[in-house]
Amino acid sequence: MKYSLFTASDTADVVALFSDVFSASEGESEGRIIADLVSRLIADTAPKNLIGCIATENDRIVGSIFFSRFIVPNDQVAFILSPVAVSTRVQGSGIGQELIRYGLEHLKRMDVDLAFTYGDPAFYSKIGFKQISEQIVKAPFVLSQPEGWLAQSLDGHPVQPMQGATECVEALSDQKYW
Ligand SMILES: CC(C)(COP(=O)(O)OP(=O)(O)OC[C@H]1O[C@@H](n2cnc3c(N)ncnc32)[C@H](O)[C@@H]1OP(=O)(O)O)[C@@H](O)C(=O)NCCC(=O)NCCS
Repeated sequence: MKYSLFTASDTADVVALFSDVFSASEGESEGRIIADLVSRLIADTAPKNLIGCIATENDRIVGSIFFSRFIVPNDQVAFILSPVAVSTRVQGSGIGQELIRYGLEHLKRMDVDLAFTYGDPAFYSKIGFKQISEQIVKAPFVLSQPEGWLAQSLDGHPVQPMQGATECVEALSDQKYW
């Protein structure tokens, strides 16, 4: 398995991967919603605010994740991980965790202080994310599943409580994703 950074030439394959994976796991309508989200993340986010990673096997993309810039109300640099997909036929073989570890190492090399995500704590706790309360860091939208609000520090210091609003990139700025 090869892990590398996403480049624009991967766009069609990556959008198709998200569509296929989420159609299979959550139904066709969710497949369309997530494929649309990924298309808009790629098209509408300035390159400095978006980091994609891919897992490739025999020249086929079998996994993909995106981190986008997340503005927090102190001077720390943060990104949020969303969405994540591993091809249905190779799920459960460690690729998702390895791809996220690869992405987090890249963020650390870029001196990013904090990584956030919003998802199943049972999965994301395997790669260092911990549940946080909105009293520590507010989410940018109302959370339908507050137990899925997760973060990890990348700079060695614990996540500090911070007052004030947070802001995600435009593609994620829709209540339906939260
Ligand atoms: C969730 C997903 C990215 C995980 O990637 P993966 O390569 O299958 O996962 P890994 O093999 O690295 O890790 C497997 C471990 O995570 C757990 N896990 C996998 N998917 C999980 C999920 N949706 N919820 C909770 N735990 C999950 C497994 O139980 C397994 O735990 P174990 O090692 O203790 O048995 C992948 O299954 C997927 O794309 N699912 C459909 C889309 C999705 O739900 N994306 C995440 C939301 S954005």
